[in-house]
Amino acid sequence: MLPPLDHIPPDLASLSDYEAFGRARVAPAAWAYLNAGAGDEWTMRENIAAFARLPLRSRVLRSMREGSTATHLLGLELEAPIMLAPTAYHSLAHSDGESATALAAGATGTCMVVSTQASQPIEDIAASATAPLWFQLYIQPDRAFTRALIQRAEAAGYRALVVTVDAPVNGLRNAEARAGFVLPPQVRPVNLAGMQLPPAEAPSSASLFGTAIIDHAPVWDDIAWLRTQTRLPVIVKGITDPDDARLALECGVDGIIVSNHGGRVLDGVPASIDLLPAVVEAVEGWVPVLMDGGVRRGNDVLRALALGAQAVLIGRPVLHALATAGALGVAHAIRVLRAELELAMALTGCRTIADIGRQCLHLPDAGPVFTGRSALR
Ligand code: FNR
Ligand code: LAC
Repeated sequence: MLPPLDHIPPDLASLSDYEAFGRARVAPAAWAYLNAGAGDEWTMRENIAAFARLPLRSRVLRSMREGSTATHLLGLELEAPIMLAPTAYHSLAHSDGESATALAAGATGTCMVVSTQASQPIEDIAASATAPLWFQLYIQPDRAFTRALIQRAEAAGYRALVVTVDAPVNGLRNAEARAGFVLPPQVRPVNLAGMQLPPAEAPSSASLFGTAIIDHAPVWDDIAWLRTQTRLPVIVKGITDPDDARLALECGVDGIIVSNHGGRVLDGVPASIDLLPAVVEAVEGWVPVLMDGGVRRGNDVLRALALGAQAVLIGRPVLHALATAGALGVAHAIRVLRAELELAMALTGCRTIADIGRQCLHLPDAGPVFTGRSALR
């Protein structure tokens, strides 16, 4: 295994370049955890492939003077509509762990969503962060423990709760099982210490129904309960169905993240970007809709915004960059993505984030789109 880099070589030019650099710096079994998808990884691949099926519409000769990628989102001022998705156990990628990722988020004007399964105490991450942080919550079987976790996040200054609802159980992690992955002793879900976990079921165990894990899995009533437990914005992550989006709105949520968990839970669901439009339509603008899954290029950020997302989150590339060069790597990766977004905006004629819309895409059903008619006068 190679040590992390302390500089960024020229061949780290795009987010996908980080994958090989990261892989060379992480133990193979840990890499299987950090990078794999569920089952045959069809959904994981599809998340990326689907973006390529959305051709962009180039527009020319528009002024880009005073152009900007800046955006507002649920009280945040972001330099770009790009955020860091919650991912577990950053210490598997780099010994500096989540604190390094938070440092990079601060340096690049973005927001980091810190996982319930972070490998460092959420208070320590907050103490070392200059970025705004959101806390990703997995509702725990012990609801009193869950309430205490929320109170800890509030006290530490987290600005919103992201409740992840698409992973009541682990997906079928064949790649992890084949690699024989187990958490190394120095990497622990430290924020869950002291919790009485239901007996862990092996992923391949014959039966799920009737086990404590599934019996205590959260249901819609728990989202309504959560809404009563905090004054922070509650954003529900892992919505892929318009009917579920409406149910989430009925629970009073403040935002929705369209996500299939990076293809790590139910293999076979469509790409996040393909699921986004129907959810946006169902939400009717009541709350912001974000998305994650397969965002690797500034063009992808533009495509997601064109289809109605307010912002995107990136998962694996952050872990690859963290493994490659710690905080420096993550900051560089975010800058690369933002620079690509600027380029995509300039070449599709969008001066601001608000200018990005369906007119940026060649959509099969949309026909010609006329904008800027006033220029004809
Ligand atoms: C995740 N994801 C995730 N989501 C969440 O809500 N809580 C978590 O603890 C984790 N942990 C986690 C670990 C690892 C190693 C990965 C790769 C992913 C899902 C994550 O937030 C996000 O939905 C996807 O990673 C987005 O897809 P991309 O960008 O990885 O393609
Ligand atoms: C994962 C869990 C932690 O995707 O969400 O590994």
